[in-house]
Amino acid sequence: QAFFRQIQRAAPPSPTKRHTKISVVGAGNVGMAIAQTILTQDVADELVLIDAKADKLRGEMLDLQHAAAFLPRTKIHASVDYELTFGSDLCIVTAGARQVPGESRLNLLQRNVALFKTIIPPLARYSPETILLIVSNPVDVLTYVAWKLSGFPSNRVIGSGTNLDSSRFRFLIADHLDVNAQDVQAYIVGEHGDSSVALWSSISVGGVPVLSFLEKQQIAYEKVTLEKIHKEVIDSAYEVISLKGYTSWAIGYSVANLARSILRDQRKVHPVSVVANGFYGIEGGDVFLSLPAQLGRGGVLGVTNVHLTDEEAHRLRDSAKTILEVQNQLGI
Ligand code: NAI
Ligand code: 2OP
Repeated sequence: QAFFRQIQRAAPPSPTKRHTKISVVGAGNVGMAIAQTILTQDVADELVLIDAKADKLRGEMLDLQHAAAFLPRTKIHASVDYELTFGSDLCIVTAGARQVPGESRLNLLQRNVALFKTIIPPLARYSPETILLIVSNPVDVLTYVAWKLSGFPSNRVIGSGTNLDSSRFRFLIADHLDVNAQDVQAYIVGEHGDSSVALWSSISVGGVPVLSFLEKQQIAYEKVTLEKIHKEVIDSAYEVISLKGYTSWAIGYSVANLARSILRDQRKVHPVSVVANGFYGIEGGDVFLSLPAQLGRGGVLGVTNVHLTDEEAHRLRDSAKTILEVQNQLGI
């Protein structure tokens, strides 16, 4: 007996509706924050969780499945076996070691590169057309490693980069000016981490360029105040890690937002880690760092030609140098 009585023949499935599948590797604090935020945003028909710890993984899967009555419909699966990721449109990698209080992101490199050698090849094999979105730290160098290990074109390998730092920046500026963070356009570029670069010259609030507004109004602003806000952004993760042990909610929203831009072909501009050599005088080899990039169904569609002051461009090149020095020791 049929569950529903049909009042007419069911319409055939629409040929234009695409089934969308996201895989998240690493079901820890970050992977689960991303997974749960993605579920609320209705961007995937299918969500696959992969982790090395089978029991924890099944527990996380069941816990999310039990929220089905409150969420848009998404099939949730989990496995320790990468075969389940077959045909993913987007693979988000969050697996790996995280910082202990006071530890830098770059210190995680050797451990996480070893892990990536076991994670990226099977992802690429089961989903040769996928877009890889890397979150594990140090994210810029690991995005380069993922690009090398996958053999994918660079437009399909993206690091979550300074999308998170920029959100922290926008929050602090909004708090300072008592406005809505969504009305603040502001970018942090370069390394996700200690050598990141704040683009003060291009900040605007509701379309008003902030620095020239302050100058015109002859409102005194101290360079040290601006530097203090940037330093607060850099210190943010260290502070949260020393207080709660890890960061999760903001990166969850940040990456779910990137997933939406990519899979819904939003063509929005996000500061994310992309191949940066050739831009703003960056040279010395292939290097991934964050620049404002347009994202859509094809991955990275382009890098915006944002105006940088000489000092900002100089700092960006220094940030690239920092990453390249680390990368050159890898031998990949
Ligand atoms: P966690 O320790 O809570 O989770 C890591 C997970 O990876 C664990 O569940 C572990 O079982 C899993 N894992 C380990 N080896 C694996 C393998 N071979 N295959 C599959 N899964 C494996 O750590 P947390 O807090 O989730 O952080 C994860 C990573 O994300 C860290 O590298 C952290 O630094 C980074 N992170 C990056 C951010 C960014 O803005 N790019 C923001 C916050 C964290
Ligand atoms: C963050 O910025 C730790 O990279 C991580 O939250």
